[in-house]
Amino acid sequence: MISTREGLTDGEGDPLSGGTSAAPALHAPAPLNAAPAPVRFDATEEESLRIQALAGSTRGWMRLARLLMRQPQLAVHAAKIAFRGASAGLRADHTLSWLIHVDTVRQVIPNGGMGATWGGLDTFMGLVAKHVARSAHALELGCGGGRVTRHIRPLVGTLVANDVSERILAGARAATGDLAPIDFRVTYGLGDDLRDQEFDAVIGHELLMQFDFDELLRYCSNIRRSLKPGGLFVASVYTFDDAAEIAQHMGMIRDHGAGARSPFRVHRMPCKTYQDIFEACGFEVVEVERSREDEYQAKKTPHTNFVLRRPAA
Ligand SMILES: C[S@@+](CC[C@H](N)C(=O)[O-])C[C@H]1O[C@@H](n2cnc3c(N)ncnc32)[C@H](O)[C@@H]1O
Repeated sequence: MISTREGLTDGEGDPLSGGTSAAPALHAPAPLNAAPAPVRFDATEEESLRIQALAGSTRGWMRLARLLMRQPQLAVHAAKIAFRGASAGLRADHTLSWLIHVDTVRQVIPNGGMGATWGGLDTFMGLVAKHVARSAHALELGCGGGRVTRHIRPLVGTLVANDVSERILAGARAATGDLAPIDFRVTYGLGDDLRDQEFDAVIGHELLMQFDFDELLRYCSNIRRSLKPGGLFVASVYTFDDAAEIAQHMGMIRDHGAGARSPFRVHRMPCKTYQDIFEACGFEVVEVERSREDEYQAKKTPHTNFVLRRPAA
């Protein structure tokens, strides 16, 4: 994800919190599919720098206040989502942060979408292409503005894409209108609303990082339940796996806090811990692969990508 003040320090989590200002080695990611997107998910270096400057120039609450002055109805929208999530067991909701992020992107790229400066999809989509059958009935969890949805849609038979916000889903619809149909669904909480054994594959890019240990156990158990026996879950998260990464994460917590609203509350766990959680939820680990540093537009710790299977029997 972004590695700028725009989003999270090294690119993860909640754009409200601002971030560190490591000089980014920005480049526009090569599109993974050929068709030009109706919404732009690539940013030039110059655009990325302007987005960073905008996001870094004001504190999160000021950007929030500005957005709410222009679109006061967003306060009710976000409150509803937070209430719905909380009543379904979720402790923190970052919807307003994502909406502010999109608002900031659009000040520079009028048709820009969520994650226009994030990059980092090559390894993840390579795993989807390698493991998920072309005929699959798939679910993309937490589709955001449709950035990853665009890459998934041509690779599967039928696609459901969900997110917690109707507003965010409207962006995803606009970004994928030129593709084969996608069934967009509003979700909430920790996946209790997923139907039993509906999907051949569930795909979640940068979703699980938003949940705490116990929340993950519940969400991943629900994801397993939503898969047909033998079905796959392809997930991408941040992990910390050596002393330098732990120190970096501790630095982010020091600089940005670790309260319930902090994006650094639980955004990272060691790869082994994620694996333990997935296995505790009944998944077999099929493949684990780290994304490459050069997939991202800025200096950051690459994602760890998991391919998991619900055992056939
Ligand atoms: C970091 S963004 C990633 C968006 C997209 N997957 C991408 O990589 O561009 C996380 C998305 O997850 C959504 N989200 C948050 N909580 C969720 C939940 N409980 N279930 C499904 N999606 C959720 C957010 O609204 C947001 O759009």
